[in-house]
Amino acid sequence: MSSDWINQVAIITGGASGIGFATAENLQSKGVQVALLDMNAEGLATAKEKLAGEPLTIQTDVSDEASVNAAVEQVAQQFGRIDILFNSAGIAGKTNLKTHEVPTEDFEKVYGVNLRGSFLICKAVVPHMLKTGYGRILLMASIAGKEGNAGMVSYSATKAGVIGLTKAIGKEYADSGITVNALAPAVIWTPIHDEIPQEQIDYMTSKIPMARCGTLEEVADMAVFIVSPKNSFTTGFTFDLSGGRATY
Ligand SMILES: NC(=O)c1ccc[n+]([C@@H]2O[C@H](COP(=O)([O-])OP(=O)(O)OC[C@H]3O[C@@H](n4cnc5c(N)ncnc54)[C@H](O)[C@@H]3O)[C@@H](O)[C@H]2O)c1
Repeated sequence: MSSDWINQVAIITGGASGIGFATAENLQSKGVQVALLDMNAEGLATAKEKLAGEPLTIQTDVSDEASVNAAVEQVAQQFGRIDILFNSAGIAGKTNLKTHEVPTEDFEKVYGVNLRGSFLICKAVVPHMLKTGYGRILLMASIAGKEGNAGMVSYSATKAGVIGLTKAIGKEYADSGITVNALAPAVIWTPIHDEIPQEQIDYMTSKIPMARCGTLEEVADMAVFIVSPKNSFTTGFTFDLSGGRATY
């Protein structure tokens, strides 16, 4: 256990499931105090039971500014600091559809969670990091944001937006001790795929040169490095985790 991690406090959105939960487990094993923010109250209760220690869980809708602000304030009040933000909350929306078939309200829903949510949570957390002059922010993008996945226009566009957000926010706080990076995985097997038609999943996995999906352990290990004190000279960058699909 590295002493670098002790006394650190991490907010993990989407922490009730998949990548967020796996990263929370990994961080907690290093001595980090984690706060899980998620829409899914049942999922939060299960996550709380599975995690050792006493994780704080707060039912939060990342697309709702009041909900985000209240949750971040609760974490700050309870622990007195916020060192790490991992924004893993995200949705795929309706997929395997061409743009002219996509319901506009579905595009707006995906935008609300993936891009608006990323902006809102950063806006709420950054002031706390500025107080201590230290912070590690990791936003969840996707290979779809780099490459554009046909049949996933809302998801691809909003994840491309997350990459732009990361570049801009990274530069804004580059001299303040806060780093802001993103992660762009290809396919990692999690419940997000429950709503995605098999045809769309086959399309995504067929493009991975390693001819396999990534594992939760691989994502969590990379996420933990990105939010670690050792990752101190990289900001505004989108890390790849795509089995060779993107080489940039
Ligand atoms: N799994 C993959 O293949 C993959 C690939 C690239 C990127 N991603 C991204 O990784 C992130 C995590 O996805 P995952 O695969 O772990 O999926 P997941 O469905 O297992 O987890 C997503 C979590 O986000 C929560 N969530 C959804 N809407 C929310 C909202 N409005 N407010 C708060 N929480 C909300 C869900 O309740 C869920 O717990 C997402 O941003 C996703 O787009 C996943």
